[in-house]
Amino acid sequence: MNTANTTIYAPRRAALARHLGPQGIAILPTAPEQARNRDSDFLFRHDSYFYYLCGFTEPNAWLVITGDGQTTLFCQPKDLEREIWDGLRLGPEAALRQLGVNAAFSVAELDAKLPAMLDGRDAVWYPFATHKGLEARIDGWLGALRARVRYGTLCPQQQRDLCGVLDEMRLVKDAHEQAVMRRAGQISAGAHIRAMQRSGQMLRAGQEVREYHLDAELLHEFRRHGSQYPAYGSIVAAGANACVLHYRADAGLVRDGELVLIDAACELDGYASDITRTFPANGSFSGPQRTLYEVVLASQEAAVAATHAGARFTDPHDAAVKVLSQGMLDVGLLDKNKVGSLQDVIDKRAYFPFYMHRTGHWIGMDVHDCGAYTEPSEIGQVSTRQDALTGETIQDRPARILRPGMALTIEPGIYVRAAEGVPEQFHNIGIRIEDDAIVTDTGCELLTRDVPVTAAEIEALMR
Ligand code: GLY
Ligand code: MN
Ligand code: MN
Repeated sequence: MNTANTTIYAPRRAALARHLGPQGIAILPTAPEQARNRDSDFLFRHDSYFYYLCGFTEPNAWLVITGDGQTTLFCQPKDLEREIWDGLRLGPEAALRQLGVNAAFSVAELDAKLPAMLDGRDAVWYPFATHKGLEARIDGWLGALRARVRYGTLCPQQQRDLCGVLDEMRLVKDAHEQAVMRRAGQISAGAHIRAMQRSGQMLRAGQEVREYHLDAELLHEFRRHGSQYPAYGSIVAAGANACVLHYRADAGLVRDGELVLIDAACELDGYASDITRTFPANGSFSGPQRTLYEVVLASQEAAVAATHAGARFTDPHDAAVKVLSQGMLDVGLLDKNKVGSLQDVIDKRAYFPFYMHRTGHWIGMDVHDCGAYTEPSEIGQVSTRQDALTGETIQDRPARILRPGMALTIEPGIYVRAAEGVPEQFHNIGIRIEDDAIVTDTGCELLTRDVPVTAAEIEALMR
C-alpha cells in the first residue's frame, strides 16, 4: 500500500464517514472525459473532491464510502487491448492493494452493485449540481431498489449534498497540502522571473516580442519542474490588453515602453498556484507607470497585513480598497471636487471604474477553490443594504472568519482604459499584483514571493 493512503487519504475518508452517519452512504465519481473534437479529448483532469479522498488520477472511477468507514472503488478493469492504446490501468486488484480501499470492482459493475449497496441506508450523499448526469444515474439505482420493495428492500429517505461537507474539509489545508502548494508557488514564481527576463533581453536585442513568446517561457518553466499543466488559462497581456480582465495569452505585440501583465501559474500534483506580476516590457518603469504601480503595491501590502487568523475574509479587500481609493484621489484618477472624500469614494464605490474585482478567493486544488465565504457560525445574521452604484438590494451575511491553514489569493489592481476625463498619462495602463497566502496564527505566509514584487527589485532583475 502506498504511504499516501495511510497518512493522507484514509484519514480524510474516515473523517468524511463520520459526517455521513452510521447508515449514510456517499457516492462520488471522478471527472468525465471531455471530447475536444472528433477523436481527440481534452487532457484528462481528475475531479478535485474525488482526488482529495483517494489520490487516484485515472478517468472512469467512482468512490462509494459508507458511514462505517468502508470504501469501495470502481475503476477501469485491466484490458490489454485498451492499455496498448491509452496506457496502463491500475485495475481493481492492484487498486485494492495500492490505494488501501476495502473493496474494488470494475466500473462495468457499477449498475449491478449500487442498488444493493444503497439498500437499507438512511441517506445517500452525492455532490449536487457539479457532475452532469449524476442525479439521473443515482435515480436509476434508487429506482431499481424501489422496484424490489415487495421483496423487503429499504430505500434511503434522504438525499444530501456531499459538497458542503467536503468543502469545509478542503478549506483548511493540512501540512501535506501546504507543502505541495508551496512548491507550486515556487515553480510559478520561477516562471514569472523567466518571462520578465526574456522580455527585457529580446527587446534589448531588437527582436520582435509577442505575448506568446512570454507564454512559452512560462510553460517551459512549469513543465520542466514536473507541473502537469497550467492551473488556469494564462493571461499574458501587453499594454492596453491588461485592462481586459480575462484576456488570454495571444499574439499581441509587446512594445518597448509598455507594461506587461502576466497572470499565470502552474498546477502541481493536484494543487493550483496563482500569481500576477506587472512589469515594464523593457525593464524600466516610466513615471506614470511607477506612480500607479506604487499605489497597487501599497494596497497589496495593506491587504497582506489584514490577512491573519481571526480577521474576516473581506478584511484584506476592504484594506486594499481604502489604499487604492486614496491613491486614486492622490494621483488624480478621481477628482475630489466630483467624488468627495475618501469615505465618499468607498461608500459610493467611486473607485469601481478602475478596480472592479474582489481582492481574493480561496485557492487549493481548484484555483478558485471551494469553501463558504460566509461564516457558518453566523449564518442567520442577514442584513440588507442598497448597493451604492446599482441600487440593487444586497443581502449581507457575516464574512468568513480566517483560520490557520486557509489559503487565499491577495490580488488588488488598477485598470485605466482610455476615456475622457481620465488623465492621459495613465491611459491603457493595467496593473495587478497577486500572491498566494496561507493564513497563520499571527499573519500569513506568502507562497509566491520568490518572484520580486517591488518596482526596484523588478528593474534590478530585468537589467
Ligand atoms: N487567475 C485567476 C484569478 O486570478 O482569479
Ligand atoms: Mn486569483
Ligand atoms: Mn490570477
